[in-house]
Amino acid sequence: MIFPEYRPRRLRRNESFRALIRETHLSAAQLIYPLFVMPGKGKKEQISSMPGVFRITVDQLGKEARECLDLGVNSVILFGLPAKKDPMGSGAHAKDGIIQQAIKELKNKAPELLVFTDVCLCEYTSHGHCGILINEQVDNDSTLEVLASTALSHARAGADMVAPSDMMDGRVGEIRAILDDNNFQHVPIMSYAVKYASAFYGPFRDAADCAPQHGDRRGYQMDPANAVEALREATLDVEEGADILMVKPAVAYLDIIHRLRAEFDLPIAAYHVSGEYAMIKAAGANGWIDEERVMQETLLSIKRAGADIILTYFAKDMARLLRK
Ligand code: PBG
Repeated sequence: MIFPEYRPRRLRRNESFRALIRETHLSAAQLIYPLFVMPGKGKKEQISSMPGVFRITVDQLGKEARECLDLGVNSVILFGLPAKKDPMGSGAHAKDGIIQQAIKELKNKAPELLVFTDVCLCEYTSHGHCGILINEQVDNDSTLEVLASTALSHARAGADMVAPSDMMDGRVGEIRAILDDNNFQHVPIMSYAVKYASAFYGPFRDAADCAPQHGDRRGYQMDPANAVEALREATLDVEEGADILMVKPAVAYLDIIHRLRAEFDLPIAAYHVSGEYAMIKAAGANGWIDEERVMQETLLSIKRAGADIILTYFAKDMARLLRK
């Protein structure tokens, strides 16, 4: 609307002025850095489709944790590459499994670091699906039990928060119940509440060696065409006891983040996933975009949409930039 006495404003937007009226702020303390842990000793291998991201062995975690904490990134989420996989994904809840070892190492070397764990079976099953197969189909109910024991084994090893990413129905409730029954009432659940069947997970599946051997994940992950369903999924998780709701991926789903922010009063997290990271890295390496600025603008857009927390492979880079 144009008022009769309207005069165009001529505000001089220098940096002080911009800072004065800035609505959205990024902070290293609200970033979660994903770590890939593999068996062995003294090893660090770069993931080819994710430049700057590495698979590391348990003994390297202390150093990694220090680096994160020094940058103000106080949270990490762990993904494991087990020594062996089997159809039941039993490595996921083994007492001396890769993640259980990793949690203990981190709690030992950097007790102040918040350790989140991804609770899923796809990294541990020989077929690469997120659950137990019956007649080649993921069976929801038999998977719930295995997920619950996985979450419990993480809590026993010292995890600060568990994050179920499998998308089975009822898993948040099942995990809450087993944690409560075993005196882990204080361990919160960050639910991958709204997880789309997305092609943006491609590089992660190389990183964690967990591409399904047959079929795909569309049977249990959400259709990118649906938004109202996201509210339904999130409502179920809230009713079952989720403490943080996550949307994944992030940038192609900013509208979903925004809707969840408006509907729920829980903290909202967004996962800026592997493919989103890889695209920025690739274009940056080619000199087609300014990688640093695109990183900052992208993470800012996720926050502006309504996310409180961002899981991102850029966490350390962004923290370094915020330091400058
Ligand atoms: C499942 C899981 C996946 C990601 C996080 N947890 C893979 C999948 O659903 O296929 C993807 C994260 C990313 O792409 O960065 N354990």
